[in-house]
Amino acid sequence: MPRHQREPLREIEPQSVPQPLSQPSSSYHSLQAKLQQRSLKRTRNSSRRDENNQRLAYEADNESPRKKRSRIVKVRRKKTEHKCKRPRATNSECLILGAGNFSFPNAFVEKEQEKKHLGFGESVTATELLKPEQLHSPIYAKCTKNLQRHGVQLKFGVDARYIHRQFRGRRFPKIHFNFPHDGKSYNERTLPTMLADFFASASKLQLVGDRIYMALPKIEGDPGKNNYYKGYAYGVYDAARYSRYRLVKKRQFGEKRYPGYQHEMTTEYKSAEVAENAREYIFEKTTLTPINILHSWPKPIDYRVYDRNYRCLPEIMTDSDSSDDEEYENKTDQKEHQYAKRLRM
Ligand SMILES: C[S@@+](CC[C@H](N)C(=O)[O-])C[C@H]1O[C@@H](n2cnc3c(N)ncnc32)[C@H](O)[C@@H]1O
Repeated sequence: MPRHQREPLREIEPQSVPQPLSQPSSSYHSLQAKLQQRSLKRTRNSSRRDENNQRLAYEADNESPRKKRSRIVKVRRKKTEHKCKRPRATNSECLILGAGNFSFPNAFVEKEQEKKHLGFGESVTATELLKPEQLHSPIYAKCTKNLQRHGVQLKFGVDARYIHRQFRGRRFPKIHFNFPHDGKSYNERTLPTMLADFFASASKLQLVGDRIYMALPKIEGDPGKNNYYKGYAYGVYDAARYSRYRLVKKRQFGEKRYPGYQHEMTTEYKSAEVAENAREYIFEKTTLTPINILHSWPKPIDYRVYDRNYRCLPEIMTDSDSSDDEEYENKTDQKEHQYAKRLRM
């Protein structure tokens, strides 16, 4: 169609044009009021913060060095508090691993209860790798029944290599793992890795000064064979050292010390000849590095197998020591006390 013949533009209908608001709506008013309130609050808060900062700066300039130190400690503790997953328990919590027929926890609780207090059993957790249906020892039922009577917590399917996962957030100042053995031949050398994993896992549930108790066989009058077990078969010195544990004590272990205890092999329900004459080795968690432990007392003994040296547990002359842990417990009691005092500061 030619231009001049085009239809004239139609006028827009007046009702379709949006009309300006003559009066702001009530919701507009309330929004405005809210924004005003918020900005007022913000300025009030910032002025309060400024005042606070000024006061702190003034106090920091005028405070004594002692007060300053305690303030810094408090601030640091507050900052790290939420990161600290490990609660500080009392020093009596005790974990027993690989309990087998449960005769050791039974004898241990009976003995300690006599010395300490009724209800001691409640602070003990006794565990075993196998499930109850896999345990057929003739004394198992009697021992577990007695342990339950004493309030001991029993757990099954607990692998010593992963206790940091199973007991996350708990602290055990004492962990017992007697005659650790997976049922394989010593020559397969599966125990050194198992023990290394165990020490690494246990160190996550312990603090410096906490202890691991491990009964191991001792062959009297045959140092070669003895070193074969400790160095080559178990590799316990290096396993402990790499997780910053140091051997602090060695003492007699057996039925005489724990009346009612009966050692049993992993695969058979009878005691092994090598376990007849055993020693309990006590390892303590330190702040020392593995290399420092190696160069400090007591020094390990080297045992050579096929041109390779294996580190054996050092000979420390505490065999005849029959003392229990009173001295250590008094020390840890004091430590706990000091720690609690520092927290209250
Ligand atoms: C030689 S028996 C000693 C049993 C008991 N401690 C005693 O003194 O009679 C070794 C025990 O360690 C357990 N065990 C083996 N491997 C384990 C692991 N990775 N974690 C926990 N326990 C384990 C076995 O199930 C067995 O009960």
